[in-house]
Amino acid sequence: MQLIKARVLHFPRSTGNPEQEFEYFAAGALVIDGQKIKAVGPEEVLSRQFPEAQVIDKRHCLLVPGLIDSHNHFPQTEIIASFGEQLLQWLENFTFPTEQKFASYEYARKIADIYLQQLFQNGTTTALAYCTVHPQSVDALFDAASEHNMQIVAGKVCMDRNCPEYLRDDASSAYQDSRDLIEKWHKQGRNLYAITPRFAPTSTEEQMTLLGQLAAEFPDTFIQSHVSENTDEIAWIKSLYPKDKDYLGVYERFGLVRERAVYGHGIHLKKREWKTLAKSGSVIAFCPSSNLFLGSGLYDMSAAISYRVSTALASDIGGGTSISMLTTQADGYKVCALNHYSLQALRGLYLMTQGPASSYRLEHQIGNLNPDTYADFVCFDLDSNELLRTRLQNGKGHAADIWFALTFLAGDRCVDSTWVAGIPVFEK
Ligand code: GUN
Ligand code: ZN
Repeated sequence: MQLIKARVLHFPRSTGNPEQEFEYFAAGALVIDGQKIKAVGPEEVLSRQFPEAQVIDKRHCLLVPGLIDSHNHFPQTEIIASFGEQLLQWLENFTFPTEQKFASYEYARKIADIYLQQLFQNGTTTALAYCTVHPQSVDALFDAASEHNMQIVAGKVCMDRNCPEYLRDDASSAYQDSRDLIEKWHKQGRNLYAITPRFAPTSTEEQMTLLGQLAAEFPDTFIQSHVSENTDEIAWIKSLYPKDKDYLGVYERFGLVRERAVYGHGIHLKKREWKTLAKSGSVIAFCPSSNLFLGSGLYDMSAAISYRVSTALASDIGGGTSISMLTTQADGYKVCALNHYSLQALRGLYLMTQGPASSYRLEHQIGNLNPDTYADFVCFDLDSNELLRTRLQNGKGHAADIWFALTFLAGDRCVDSTWVAGIPVFEK
């Protein structure tokens, strides 16, 4: 048993009001026992309650739950910061040629190891990850994740049109390969599977039909795809699916809009789409750094809140330019500011911890520091650099101000350590 002394911050419950309903212990502690959390609370109380625990002193750190990145592409780790395009050209020129390399398990495994190390170095302990069209790229990522006993959600990209021949599956192989991967990996250890049509333009109606069928056969799997990211893409959807009401309507027709369905971007959604998302319990992954980099547009967070659509923050690497969820939140703040909405610091933290965990029905395992959840957490060193130290000395000293300053000034420099299931997977 270990008792970690730190400033401790989390959201013990899901809430529509994360600015108020957080728990913060300025002189706090987390007690862990094996893979799980035993207790969280004031250091003084827990030290008396668990006198036998080994004490780890992280009082210079802010300890929060392991961060959740709700949308990214592990094969795009190596194309971060590729110059000069909007979405459809960027896919053609950078993404597809790179994804071809993942036909090799060995290559995919090499990048999977780099990707996971980058996540840990930035305090991320759970990701919803796209693999490539190749089933072996999925095996590589789950093999790598299993070595760390981490909670990962991943799936084989399905696409059978409007992409290079060398990256194409077909409707029935997409169904069968995805089904085999679900049977092999879903709920094996902490691994979870996501049925992954890349986006509606790259799937035929036949493929979408079969993937909808698969989602109904395995209702506790995830679904991940992209919606309404870019205006050229939306015009393309209109020509490919002329009879559907709108972009989300395409996924809806095939039974792909439901709980645990996570759609990337959602920048240009209409009223009907917002309402459908809210009713279904689907989640929008807000990817601010990618949306700025690819010139896609500004996510409307106040609409999401007023329509009661769950939003989760996400890096979308390699469209996004940072794998750090703190930097992602900082970009999110700026995107929202341009849309006349102030993204409160603690709401941002909620959107990468308890918020998505509860939308995914995983709050009993991740997203908070409640007893019996996995000991997935991260310690941010508040004393790690001069600028942060100076800023915090001048700040108000409350949880929201500390977290706000960290998101802009920390990046990966301030990560002291990242823990997965009670084991440090990264230490500075
Ligand atoms: N839409 C379809 N595929 C992709 C992708 O790889 N990245 C982003 N940002 N959007 C997409
Ligand atoms: Zn994406």
